[in-house]
Amino acid sequence: MSQVPELLPDPGSRPWPWWPPARPASDSEAGSGGASYGRQVEPGRLDLSHGVVLYLEDISVSFDGFKALNALSLTIDAGELRCVIGPNGAGKTTMMDVITGKTRPDAGRAFFGQTIDLTQRTEAEIAHAGIGRKFQKPTIFESHSVFENLELAMKADKRVRRTLAARLSSEEEGRIAETLRQIRLADSASRQAGLLSHGQKQWLEIGMLLMQEPQLLLLDEPVAGMSDDETERTAELFLSLAGQHSLVVVEHDMAFIAKIARKVTVLHEGSVLAEGTLDAVQADPRVVEVYLGR
Ligand SMILES: Nc1ncnc2c1ncn2[C@@H]1O[C@H](COP(=O)(O)OP(=O)(O)OP(=O)(O)O)[C@@H](O)[C@H]1O
Ligand SMILES: [Mg+2]
Repeated sequence: MSQVPELLPDPGSRPWPWWPPARPASDSEAGSGGASYGRQVEPGRLDLSHGVVLYLEDISVSFDGFKALNALSLTIDAGELRCVIGPNGAGKTTMMDVITGKTRPDAGRAFFGQTIDLTQRTEAEIAHAGIGRKFQKPTIFESHSVFENLELAMKADKRVRRTLAARLSSEEEGRIAETLRQIRLADSASRQAGLLSHGQKQWLEIGMLLMQEPQLLLLDEPVAGMSDDETERTAELFLSLAGQHSLVVVEHDMAFIAKIARKVTVLHEGSVLAEGTLDAVQADPRVVEVYLGR
């Protein structure tokens, strides 16, 4: 039998597509009792019929009685680039933890598209369904080249039944070339990833997420530690990704936010304090109070 890398299920032992098959019916019927393993969603099936990619309603998360999220409600439209700002401890990262299944909410509803109930899915299922998350510390393969990192990310995509040893098709090579161009690393394709600058490593990790064609990208403090020039280029990158993908960007760097801002959500004490254009939220007395009152 052909060589199958560990991260892929053994294709010989189960029917195609992956077993158990994706659930075509509404997820909201799933209930909470069933085992969640293996319930995978085909990304192409994401139901965006109402133009909403992410829907959070009254989400609450408590840590030892402290409410990190307090009835948080938020709607992200398909293709939107949403900035989320707020003081330290506002709940921004916790919100991403809930969206990605890392933290289960105590209360509330969270849907990806119309039908995927995020509170009933494992982290792996949510990633597979099309939500990519960028952590602050890039998780790239430092000893491999930039090109190989993108190649590995593409081949780790469980939607594609293939082996790591298989040769790239010209279409796949084209996708890698396109991503290299997008993340501004076309000139560094053969460079060892460990030798890249901090900002370039961040772009490479974003590129690795893009290889999996996520519908929704969550980026937590993506420009922290970047030079001004890298920050500028990251703004251009995010603007180029909006539309094809939906992006939720959490950042404290307000100069960066000002470059990419469309609609901005201000979180405070686990809830939405204000939402609107950057000018509007910055002029909101409650927002001024939260930022200056401490
Ligand atoms: N696992 C945890 N256990 C206990 N408390 C937690 C945990 N995770 C987060 N918190 C608390 O929840 C609150 C919200 O934290 P969170 O990390 O979501 O804030 P944030 O908005 O991302 O802040 P920052 O801008 O500093 O990154 C904080 O008071 C934090 O201490
Ligand atoms: Mg945070």
